[in-house]
Amino acid sequence: MLLDHERVAIHTGPRSRLPVIVAVHSTALGPAAGGLRLWHYPDWRDGLTDALRLSAAMTSKFAVAGLPSGGGKAVVALPEGVTLDTGRRREVLRDVADVIDSLGGMYATGPDVGTGPADMALIGETTPHVFCRPAQLGGSGDSSPHTARGTLAALRAVSRRLYGTASLNGRSLAVIGLGRVGAGLARLLTAEGAALTVTDIDPDKRRIGEELGAVWRAPDEILAADVDIVVPSALGSVLTGQNVAELRCRAVVGPANNQLATPEVADLLHHRGIIWVPDYVASAGGVINAISTELHHAGADAADARVRAIEETVNDLLETAHRLGRTPAQAADELATRRLGAASGLRRGA
Ligand code: PHE
Repeated sequence: MLLDHERVAIHTGPRSRLPVIVAVHSTALGPAAGGLRLWHYPDWRDGLTDALRLSAAMTSKFAVAGLPSGGGKAVVALPEGVTLDTGRRREVLRDVADVIDSLGGMYATGPDVGTGPADMALIGETTPHVFCRPAQLGGSGDSSPHTARGTLAALRAVSRRLYGTASLNGRSLAVIGLGRVGAGLARLLTAEGAALTVTDIDPDKRRIGEELGAVWRAPDEILAADVDIVVPSALGSVLTGQNVAELRCRAVVGPANNQLATPEVADLLHHRGIIWVPDYVASAGGVINAISTELHHAGADAADARVRAIEETVNDLLETAHRLGRTPAQAADELATRRLGAASGLRRGA
């Protein structure tokens, strides 16, 4: 397989002795951005694979969102069973910050699975190339509420397509994962009048389900729940060639990155008559808010309007897919490819 990325930096952090991976997929649209994932992997090479896939998805995310940024991602691959105390965590973050700084602005980081605004503040002590520091430090803060609102916008578009109304009142949804984004989204959906089934690998999250009056299901049972829409909100690769056959929903739309185990799963979903909105479209609210406010100096209302515009983007994608007999995944990929092609054409002076 050919390397599809502009640059991949792999370091053993001099302080932490942990593998620090920064993958810059493309800067065709602008300097790359993407979150820092601090997560456990059986082998650091699995972290590299994740970084390569996640950074490519960021390129598509920005292209479809219409933002002049490129795709990147950083991964710190923690060995299974290793937990970081505060001191160790600081060492890791300093190691990551040095690698980012050495790229000279080619890549800026943000929060992702396992990191948040406090971590961004620490990285910001070393390098300016960081989004989502706490507001008191001049950053745009936690991106997860915006990611949740962007996903809600995508869900409204899907509801309109399926049921003729964007309202989610009375719809049943299964939210897989109650992390910062998943829990926020579950709260928004409950406020909209939706009936929820929820799960998380952490049994303590059951409390959130109870608070929302949601039905709790075991993680390995929830995909097959008898609901209108399944909402993957945790880690990737939840949809596989095997489990698509078990789905009983009419759509899968959620904020988790890299939901498909392989790209062909999008076709399997389509053949089953299930609408799948590409994760990189539904999950763009966080980066849209961070980049609009921090890089393009949009006010809160303007940034919010851009996040809510995901509803229109998904309406258009579903409409285009329907008209051309494509899957939404193909329609989104084609839109991203078109925008990337136009940008590199411009750069070549074509
Ligand atoms: N985790 C975010 C995503 O996958 C990454 C991010 C958020 C990057 C905010 C920059 C700013 O889209």
